[in-house]
Amino acid sequence: MKAFQEELKSRVDYIEQVIKEYLPKEEGFQETVIKAMNYSVLAGGKRLRPMLILESFRLFGGTDTKLIEPFMAAMEMIHTYSLVHDDLPAMDDDAYRRGRKTTHIVYGEAMGILAGDALLNYGFEVATNAFSQAVDLQRATRAYTILVKKPGIYGMLGGQAVDVENCDRPMKQEKLDFIYDLKTGALIEASMMIGAIMADASDAEVKEIQLAAKKIGLAFQIQDDILDVVGEEDKIGKPVKSDEKNHKTTYVTLLGIEKAKASVEQLSMEAIQILNGFTYKNVYLEQLVNYLIYREK
Ligand code: IPE
Ligand code: IPE
Ligand code: MG
Ligand code: MG
Ligand code: MG
Repeated sequence: MKAFQEELKSRVDYIEQVIKEYLPKEEGFQETVIKAMNYSVLAGGKRLRPMLILESFRLFGGTDTKLIEPFMAAMEMIHTYSLVHDDLPAMDDDAYRRGRKTTHIVYGEAMGILAGDALLNYGFEVATNAFSQAVDLQRATRAYTILVKKPGIYGMLGGQAVDVENCDRPMKQEKLDFIYDLKTGALIEASMMIGAIMADASDAEVKEIQLAAKKIGLAFQIQDDILDVVGEEDKIGKPVKSDEKNHKTTYVTLLGIEKAKASVEQLSMEAIQILNGFTYKNVYLEQLVNYLIYREK
């Protein structure tokens, strides 16, 4: 078997290609907003969410990846929208993202807002391609419904709203977990559920993969908190100490680095245990979850 890093790279390359295929052309009077959309998406990033769609699809025996490509591209657009808006002056007010100046710094705040909105909307547009390509319309419809719901008020956006509302306020872990489950967990859950559904996993299996994804999402956000404190700016491609600047309660402020690290490990192990419980296997997916515990970017 190829080394994990090589496997990772080949997946990222494939995902990049899929994303590029679905990006809008930079033309017409609305060229600037389209350029701003493409700027943020093409800046790179780990492409974790499309990768989780792919690997969850493979876990349940999916092979024809053409069927999930519209969802992979759409999910990365929706995730990128969440980053573009997260960086806005009214939110975390950050000037760097994915190793480049933030969209609102380059294109101005109005275009930053519009490019974010456009990425969310275009993501939904792109995902409709799953219907024309579908071999099973019902599966595509279920997956689409998740794609539409999880970014919303009961998902990512809801988490972001509670997050910004609670800067400068002491917060208990219970509320922080609620925020993380939504702001970060929701899109990771959506990704793994979409992959599973498109591979015709059973309802019980989709429930289980959602539970694994919830743990992966929480671990991922805790590691993000850790990297905000001990990470290196040129590795993470975004400013360190953003949370401190914004007076955020995080896992690190609540528990300290060591306990936060232990939580990342614990949650990731629990996720792997769930993955191990399936009759199907995806070795790469387990390696990926493991890799994320120790990620430096
Ligand atoms: C950043 O997500 C926002 C969080 C939910 C922590 P990623 O760390 O996946 O960012 P990219 O996509 O690699 O830039
Ligand atoms: C934001 O969390 C998660 C999103 C939904 C964008 P953070 O604010 O910690 O994400 P980063 O650190 O800016 O990527
Ligand atoms: Mg934020
Ligand atoms: Mg932020
Ligand atoms: Mg962060």
